[in-house]
Amino acid sequence: MENETLPSERAGNLESYEKACKDFTWASGEEEFEWSSGGPYNIAHEAIDKHASSWRKNKVALYWESASGKMRKFTFGEMRRETNRFANTLVGLGAKRGDRVFVYLDRIPEAYITAFGTMKMGGIFAPIFSALGPDGVRDRMLDAGARFLVTTPQLFERVQPVMESLTELSTVILVSAGTEQAPDKCVWFRELMRASSPDFETERMAPHEPYVIHYTSGTTGKPKGVLHGHKAMVQQLVTSKFVLDLKEGDTYWCTSDPGWVTGTSYGMVGPWLLGSSLLSYEGRFDPRTWYSLLERYEVTVWYTAPTALRMLMKAGDDLVGEFSFPSLRHVCSVGEPLNPEVIRWAMRTMGKRVHDTWWQTETGAMLICNYPCSTIKPGSMGRPIPGIQAGIVDEEGQDLPPGREGFLAVRPGWPSMMVGIWRNAPRYREYFKIPGWYVSGDMAFRDEEGYFWFLGRADDVIKSSGERIGPFEVESALLEHPAVAEAGVIGKPDEIRGEIVKAFVSLRPGYVPSDWLKAEVSQFVKQKLAAYAYPKEIDFVDSLPKTRSGKILRRVLKARELGQEVGDLSTLEK
Ligand code: WT7
Repeated sequence: MENETLPSERAGNLESYEKACKDFTWASGEEEFEWSSGGPYNIAHEAIDKHASSWRKNKVALYWESASGKMRKFTFGEMRRETNRFANTLVGLGAKRGDRVFVYLDRIPEAYITAFGTMKMGGIFAPIFSALGPDGVRDRMLDAGARFLVTTPQLFERVQPVMESLTELSTVILVSAGTEQAPDKCVWFRELMRASSPDFETERMAPHEPYVIHYTSGTTGKPKGVLHGHKAMVQQLVTSKFVLDLKEGDTYWCTSDPGWVTGTSYGMVGPWLLGSSLLSYEGRFDPRTWYSLLERYEVTVWYTAPTALRMLMKAGDDLVGEFSFPSLRHVCSVGEPLNPEVIRWAMRTMGKRVHDTWWQTETGAMLICNYPCSTIKPGSMGRPIPGIQAGIVDEEGQDLPPGREGFLAVRPGWPSMMVGIWRNAPRYREYFKIPGWYVSGDMAFRDEEGYFWFLGRADDVIKSSGERIGPFEVESALLEHPAVAEAGVIGKPDEIRGEIVKAFVSLRPGYVPSDWLKAEVSQFVKQKLAAYAYPKEIDFVDSLPKTRSGKILRRVLKARELGQEVGDLSTLEK
């Protein structure tokens, strides 16, 4: 497998990877920003206003299609006015710099307007994936001390039962055409927007001041709020240019939801820094609809995920054969290992290589990638972007030679590195526990030519359909079910989704295992926590393997599930 290579397609914006690695400096990208010549330091200014005051004013910034096929378009000029109105709306409601503005919406234009309007007035945009249930939303809003919430009346029904616990929350802004009396603490988006001025003076931010908070899961505890600063724009612009290979005439589609970092860094910010036209589709994944979107909008650059590609592959060659994509120039993928088989399928059916990219919520932008100008080795994540240094290290921070497996680590200080974990400095410091390195939590090796190969996680984090799921959060939700005494959760390998969530559950006295109870417990988690994080499989067990201090040994559960050696238990039972 390691010997298979796909030759470079063409020189892209990045003409030579090797040359850029020698010559590139982060400062060389800075001239493209207006702040380098006195403009306000703010992502929203560079992503929208800069273009709205250039010839791009009437260029389409956003093509949007609803789940039912309704279409809307916004130019950069319109986006400037709408985001200004929202910035004024927030200020009018008493919002201050640094306030956390939660946005709990489907992929609709208001998600983009509220995101950049928040950034303009110096707020922190806090997106929440709309598949998240009441407990998931409450935990995140409580942790972040949410000040504002933008949502729809339908989604608000999930928040209403937990409103009382959200003591720092000032106002809920409801996106809909309502004119009737809004519920307590709620106001109507349309009404306020109409009354707000389309002019706003964008706040000048400091580079490290946060513009976004993304909740993401680790192996212990509830999800943590990863903060990114306005300075992330430096790397988001450079990677959108070098890796996504965006050019002026492109129509670009990022399939990730703004609730995840891919959906903000590359579904909003990066491409708009370059003035690209974005496509956004509200609906869910469906092979025929997706092919039709690629064809009808003449998408030129497409950023998606391995699970989606595997599902398209499974939908069959006949289906893809019904469409043609002569405009499609460049395809990239992120989130989980990209199977060589998927790359071969895309070559065969679309005539395109798929360019894998590796990064994380915490890294804020791409770090290890494949480039149009370089050879791809299917199965490898590629090579570090110019300007960063990645390594495979051991526990002491020794950089290991090619072929040796170890922790995938990066020298700290790249522009889009997280600026902190919200109200959790100890957790932030843990990423840097190996001196001189940021430790990613992934295991990998490097080959003689500097390509990185992913091996797996070093921890218990689950990746299902590319979404990151913390076992602790699922276990906590399971424990709230009256039948559940104890629960341990693992990721079980799955051909399409990468992994699925599997739970091992012991029951309280009086409850009897049954298929009905499995379905009921699984539904319970789906409704409380998230539609993407519930256990698809449950095994009832008499007891769970634990350490002497009572910690559940997920490693043992996983080894048993996979029929592997459980390993030396004496070292675990400390
Ligand atoms: C974890 C980060 C930020 C992009 C979306 C994911 C896994 C990510 C790859 C890849 C193999 C990958 C890693 C990583 N991952 N990209 N190209 N090949 N694994 O961000 O949800 O924070 O997850 O996703 O395990 O640590 P995330």
